[in-house]
Amino acid sequence: MKVAILGGTGSFGGALAARLVALGEDDVVIGSRDAERAAAAAAELGGRASGATNVDAVAGCDLVVLAVKAEAALDTAREVADALGETPLLSVASALSFSKDGVRPDPDVLSVAERIQELVAGPVTAGLHSIAAANLDEAPPEEDALICGDDADGKALALELAGKVVAGRALDCGPLAGARTLEGLTAVIVNLNRRYKAHAGIRVSGLS
Ligand SMILES: NC(=O)c1ccc[n+]([C@@H]2O[C@H](COP(=O)([O-])OP(=O)(O)OC[C@H]3O[C@@H](n4cnc5c(N)ncnc54)[C@H](OP(=O)(O)O)[C@@H]3O)[C@@H](O)[C@H]2O)c1
Repeated sequence: MKVAILGGTGSFGGALAARLVALGEDDVVIGSRDAERAAAAAAELGGRASGATNVDAVAGCDLVVLAVKAEAALDTAREVADALGETPLLSVASALSFSKDGVRPDPDVLSVAERIQELVAGPVTAGLHSIAAANLDEAPPEEDALICGDDADGKALALELAGKVVAGRALDCGPLAGARTLEGLTAVIVNLNRRYKAHAGIRVSGLS
């Protein structure tokens, strides 16, 4: 498939892009606010990677991964909405608040992904929140990738992508409202990482 990764110049988007390019199965378009920065990141990856501004990156893609800084997710979704049209979008954002005594989930009742769905016409899925960029850097991590969404086709694409980057399973976690939990879970994982100096991930037990 052809995948655009908006914010593909960053830690998570860059690691995801590198993993996909290494597999060599997909065309990967790195999106950035800056076309030159995108082109440089794509050139570094080589293979089937190219670069463009976020708005241009979404053209002709089967799936768009929104991997900009979480605080910029809604603005970026708004900015690319017209170019995106009906293309499915996968949101990996978790809105968190950081303080000395710990990381807390966003107090907003709606998840970032649900708020993005209010801005774009295509189906939004949410997932990959529990996979640390650092864990994508080497071999596929022994973790499951959790994906939720309301649209079956959009979710199938997101699950296909997720299944390529983890050694565990890509799991369908139900409707998009589940993003409230998946995004909030990131706060728990970041607190675990801080406490145990780790890059924790998720492996679900009891599934056949
Ligand atoms: N880091 C992780 O381990 C991890 C794991 C799972 C999910 N996530 C999620 O992945 C997303 C990216 O996280 P990250 O750690 O990769 O972030 P990051 O490296 O800080 O930023 C990613 C990219 O966001 C773009 N950006 C920064 N400020 C922006 C703004 N004001 N407006 C538009 N774009 C802006 C930048 O791209 P340009 O400057 O090139 O435009 C930057 O390269 C977040 O939503 C995060 O919740 C992260």
